[in-house]
Amino acid sequence: MRKKIIAGNWKMNLTFAEAMALADNLLDENKNIDDVEVVLASPFIFLHPLINRIQSNPNFSIAAQNCSDKIKGAFTGEIAASMLASIGVEHVILGHSERRQLYGETNSMIAAKVDRALENGVFPIFCCGELLAERNNNIHFNVVKKQLEESLFHLTSNQIDECIIAYEPVWAIGTGVTASFEQAQEMHEFIRSTISSKYSKSIAEEISILYGGSVTPANASELFDGDDIDGALVGGASLKEKDFSDIIKAMLTKI
Ligand code: PGA
Repeated sequence: MRKKIIAGNWKMNLTFAEAMALADNLLDENKNIDDVEVVLASPFIFLHPLINRIQSNPNFSIAAQNCSDKIKGAFTGEIAASMLASIGVEHVILGHSERRQLYGETNSMIAAKVDRALENGVFPIFCCGELLAERNNNIHFNVVKKQLEESLFHLTSNQIDECIIAYEPVWAIGTGVTASFEQAQEMHEFIRSTISSKYSKSIAEEISILYGGSVTPANASELFDGDDIDGALVGGASLKEKDFSDIIKAMLTKI
């Protein structure tokens, strides 16, 4: 069975005290959640203390929200994948639409980041998704296919197997508008079949594909009914302990 994953993307939110309190409450509330992996994607400076905290719960892991496309050197303000690996960070979100739109990340830059992460044993959570105008013009499948081709399809079978994919329609991120169950499942199925054509059916069947974009306790359960929807990448609702725990519970009921 594919791994079921609920990831919280805290983005640039929370103070140190707030972040630790949120993590402690989540760890406390979600003790027996075998078969669901909970990933907390925190700002860089909270990663190390968070890693110490989650040792008590094998179902929790930590993600960075970005890493450099360079190996090391004179790149002021950047964080290398090797640094993440050196403190035990397991995952890194790459290609988030906020990075693409606000910081000019291109598919080829994201491909280099994916390489740096995998070279260091950090598993990418690769985000893809179309803009509203692209969906309205009916080119959403092409857009997502191109993102996969240009940032992931240079990988070997063993490497792509180490990636998690998150489908995040840009129009659904932070807007309160969620993709319908049909829209999400249809795109997840498309992503899986695109991976299957490039690699193999067995590889495609192993890769967890998460949905992201205004996931809340109110819509999570329906989304998780999708055969190809293996979890969620949650932004806003991941900052609220009860909402995030309820999303984890919604997944637990499907297993
Ligand atoms: P949202 O963010 O849940 O607040 O829409 C999702 C994301 O950006 O990963």
